[in-house]
Amino acid sequence: MLNKSNTRTDTHDTEARITALLSEMTLEEKMGQLTQFSGFYDVTGPPPPGDREAQKHALLQRGLIGSMLNVVGYDDVRAFQTYAVENSRLGIPMMFAYDVIHGHKTMFPIPLAEAASWDLDLIEKGARVAATEAAAQGLNWTFAPMVDVTRDARWGRVMEGAGEDPYLGAVIAEARVKGFQGEDLGSPDTVLATVKHFAGYGFAEAGKEYNVAEVSQVTLFNTILQPFRDVLENANPRSFMNAFNTINGIPATGDVELQRGLLKGDWGFDGVVVSDWGSAIEMVSHGFVEDGREAARVAMTAGSDVDMESYVYLDHLNDLVETGDLDLELIDDAVRRVLRTKFELGLFDDPYRYLDRDRESETLMTQAHLQASEEIARKSIVLLKNHHGALPLQQGERVALIGALAADKDAPLGNWRAHAEAHSAMSVLEAFEEAQLNFEYSHGVHVQWGDAGFEYPVHINTDNWEGFDEAVEAARQADKVVLVLGETARQSGEGRSRVDLGFPGLQQQLLEAVHAANHNLVLVVMSGRPLVLSWADAHVPAIVQAWHLGHRAGRAITDVLTGKENPSGKLPMSFPRSVGQLPLYYNHMNTGRPGPKETVVWAGYSDVETTALYPFGHGLSYSHFVYSNLAVAYHEGQIEVQVAVQNVEGPPGEEVVQVYVHDRVASIARPVRELKAFKKLSLESGEYQALTFKLKAKDLGFYKADGTFAVEAGEFDIYVGGSSCAQLSARIRLSSEDVESLV
Ligand code: BGC
Repeated sequence: MLNKSNTRTDTHDTEARITALLSEMTLEEKMGQLTQFSGFYDVTGPPPPGDREAQKHALLQRGLIGSMLNVVGYDDVRAFQTYAVENSRLGIPMMFAYDVIHGHKTMFPIPLAEAASWDLDLIEKGARVAATEAAAQGLNWTFAPMVDVTRDARWGRVMEGAGEDPYLGAVIAEARVKGFQGEDLGSPDTVLATVKHFAGYGFAEAGKEYNVAEVSQVTLFNTILQPFRDVLENANPRSFMNAFNTINGIPATGDVELQRGLLKGDWGFDGVVVSDWGSAIEMVSHGFVEDGREAARVAMTAGSDVDMESYVYLDHLNDLVETGDLDLELIDDAVRRVLRTKFELGLFDDPYRYLDRDRESETLMTQAHLQASEEIARKSIVLLKNHHGALPLQQGERVALIGALAADKDAPLGNWRAHAEAHSAMSVLEAFEEAQLNFEYSHGVHVQWGDAGFEYPVHINTDNWEGFDEAVEAARQADKVVLVLGETARQSGEGRSRVDLGFPGLQQQLLEAVHAANHNLVLVVMSGRPLVLSWADAHVPAIVQAWHLGHRAGRAITDVLTGKENPSGKLPMSFPRSVGQLPLYYNHMNTGRPGPKETVVWAGYSDVETTALYPFGHGLSYSHFVYSNLAVAYHEGQIEVQVAVQNVEGPPGEEVVQVYVHDRVASIARPVRELKAFKKLSLESGEYQALTFKLKAKDLGFYKADGTFAVEAGEFDIYVGGSSCAQLSARIRLSSEDVESLV
């Protein structure tokens, strides 16, 4: 019997205690530890087949289940934890998980938006706030960050990641994991982080949700796996979630090479692998296993430790062991991992350590938390275009503020809004009022009807023109128009794949009519993904990408529009000219016929320019930054890249200085350029700063198809600038000796 009053001790001790505990556990108790139930169905996934309610309640009451998701708050968490601790034979506490993706009660910008800030400290701070709030509601495990590299804006979940670049994605993932897990997982304001979805989900073919991922080994090793590999090495996340998709015909949940071979073997991960919702039983639909029994055997063999909502471990592990079809050692290893994280969380010292009524009431939505959300919201806004100084707004200008989204208090909360209250964000309209701007508001057309739950379709307005004419008239009367268009919160996120990435409903018509009435137009785009903004780019003088920015969205947007905040965000994902270009990403291969050129026999399209409309890394400022003095040299095992940046015109501002590398000739074709370093600089008006970046072997090398890493001698081009189209470049030749001595 477990001594429930034991104190936390060192690793060696913990392992000994786990061994002792394991030796006392029955197979049924072990299966329970490897099973995760949702508190309520249809929350973030479909219910399992058959009626499971009675079984579920009985098991929970007997305290047999190891963890739950979607149970939040002092009362509910305490009730379930009491079952586990009081009613079970061994009193093993439960873990409580939740999708705390971009805030818990205080909503932060969606992860894709935060990535546009390129501000790792603020991103870490955001995750820290979210963890503090979640932990104050009894939670100790979040299913974030999603580190899937995403190149296809049709996929709704691009909102949940850090975009298309594996390096940016990796450093952001590290910041998030550090924020969630803090210095000490045992302290009651930290939560276990989960990096997900291992692996390839971001490459869902054609952006169709849950689709197969068709990727080469080179893309898998260099692009998809980099954030997982780096975050594990640098931030030690204690949990991984596997992916829904197949690669090479193998569903991730049943992929023994990926999970047991690479993750737990080569990379030495000793935390917990949790399946995605129902992903074990979904191997039947994939046609990879025949039934639930085989799903359980395959998932466990592959290294999926915890079964979320498939019930296959519960139903079949016992029989599989008894018939000799599954080795008990595999089950013991999985249980050991679950128990280890419970020890790390301090739950064996005090199963109720995450439960404190006062903390719950004092911690949520504090001013400091809202302030933190506002701070990163400002930094996440990307100024896409600004011709003839259309922005910032001038004092005294009569502005027509137009658009349903301008008054929307819900859209900015984004899709994965955890425990946020619906319609609780500050709208642009409210912020305009607060700032006492000289403006009239006109609603224009509705974007959607009613509120959509997480799992239900959104009803887009396609035929009700009410408000249209008034908005056009308001535009005509004004000096300048600020038009807010885009997606509502539930139009991106899980299950929200789209093939038309224009403005939903009647918004494009509104844009064109408003523009015809008044060319002096500023377009603010709220969305959870890159939209196709080609018409707007050709006609509208200023465009601001404002994503879904969380609770203080309105104020952050208004501060950028008025110039109180000098915009500094840079795109973490390319914006296409046409959906037909997708997948689109800056770090593509050159092809044998790099184009386009004058004749048609070069890589490109006949009907659209080949490049992105707004490339990765792009983002303007009210200041003008000039780059100069690029020098690249080999120095003591590193490549030193020196460059100078000056804020030559405009107010004080921030610039993200980006360093890209191109390996000109290698044993496999390499991308045209790849981001390897960046720094966000703050520059006063006129200020000049020189800076040095140091590149190491890992920045110059690559993985081959067999998974081996190589750095090869030869020439490298280095580009430095304010976007992935940076023009300033220098070339360096590295000898074999140089390469060998790289650190
Ligand atoms: C999603 C996961 C999520 C899980 C639990 C699944 O549908 O793919 O990312 O963590 O549900 O809510």
